[in-house]
Amino acid sequence: MLKIILTAVLVFYCVMAWSVEPIGTPDRGKIKYPSGAAPSLAEVNLGKMLFFDPRISVNQTQSCATCHNPDLGLSDAIKHSLGAMGKRVNRHAPHLYNLAWSNQFFWDGRAASLEEQALDPIVENSEMNMPLPELITRLKAVPYYQKAFEQIYGSTAISALNISRANAAFERSLISDNSPFDQYIAGNKTAMSPAAIRGMELFEGKANCIECHDGPNFTDNIFHNIGVKSDDLGRGAITNDRTQNKAFKTPGLRNITLSAPYMHDGSEPSIQAVIRFYNQGGTDTEGLDNLIEKLNLS
Ligand code: HEC
Ligand code: HEC
Repeated sequence: MLKIILTAVLVFYCVMAWSVEPIGTPDRGKIKYPSGAAPSLAEVNLGKMLFFDPRISVNQTQSCATCHNPDLGLSDAIKHSLGAMGKRVNRHAPHLYNLAWSNQFFWDGRAASLEEQALDPIVENSEMNMPLPELITRLKAVPYYQKAFEQIYGSTAISALNISRANAAFERSLISDNSPFDQYIAGNKTAMSPAAIRGMELFEGKANCIECHDGPNFTDNIFHNIGVKSDDLGRGAITNDRTQNKAFKTPGLRNITLSAPYMHDGSEPSIQAVIRFYNQGGTDTEGLDNLIEKLNLS
């Protein structure tokens, strides 16, 4: 009997240890493209054109890049984004780096693919507020789009499905790798400063960030309540599972210094503030994930 219990305990701990993937360099070979192969450059470029085109919003004032601005870490530097009609979106715009490896999108994971996600901000009235039939008519009037859609998608040409495909193809190309961290991991021990190396040791050690921010993109791609004080039910509102109330998707941390403010509500203004937040074990203890506790970092 004792043997069985000990084996069970051992197996449990092994599974727990394996569930944390080491941090490292993203493997482009592991991206799951819906068609099985990477999109053509022409399709990525079409998606890029759409991403930066204000024609996508109802009054032509806003493109995806208004809220996912490359100069602002693919976010928008404000707590709650402003939609085309001047309405506030109820969450902070997340960065879009390395989403090619993800399978849950939005802070609450309500979309299962980038294709599924892509049309949402277009039609959402607090964002671009643009009915799809109107968008299709508008794009059809532009010779570039007419030609590009037809060349890439053949006779089906400009449709909601193909707009979402092109958008997703571009988003999967927003890849951050070969950073000083990646060079360090690859063996160049001078690529990272001594302070950054000490930070990495804390990240994997005493501060235990790696429990959730693991793998090459620093995310476990699941949902946790880390104790951000907020009325937003997050994942719980999608699953109707009360234990997931106030749980949000663990964001990847590549290029993260560029996209302040942080958290689903933009409540932490800087990276330093985020570290203070974790050091005190969150700001709200209701339903807190048991991986979050006071860290006592100096
Ligand atoms: C008005 C600002 C705004 C505009 C315009 C906008 N977004 Fe977003 N985006 C957001 C916000 C806010 C969220 C988070 C919403 C949520 O989680 O409920 C988001 C989430 C996303 C996500 C999910 C990221 C993740 O980590 O899960 C993707 C992908 C995305 N947007 C792409 C786009 C694309 C493509 C466009 C243009 C078609 C676009 N966005 C237009 C504000 C905006
Ligand atoms: C229990 C899992 C968990 C642990 C442990 C954890 N995080 Fe997080 N992290 C998350 C989740 C979930 C969010 C998003 C929470 C929200 O928006 O309410 C987040 C958000 C962040 C953000 C903001 C990212 C953005 O795009 O807004 C940063 C930066 C961050 N964490 C860094 C860290 C660091 C540094 C540590 C270690 C001190 C750490 N995390 C420990 C799960 C975790």
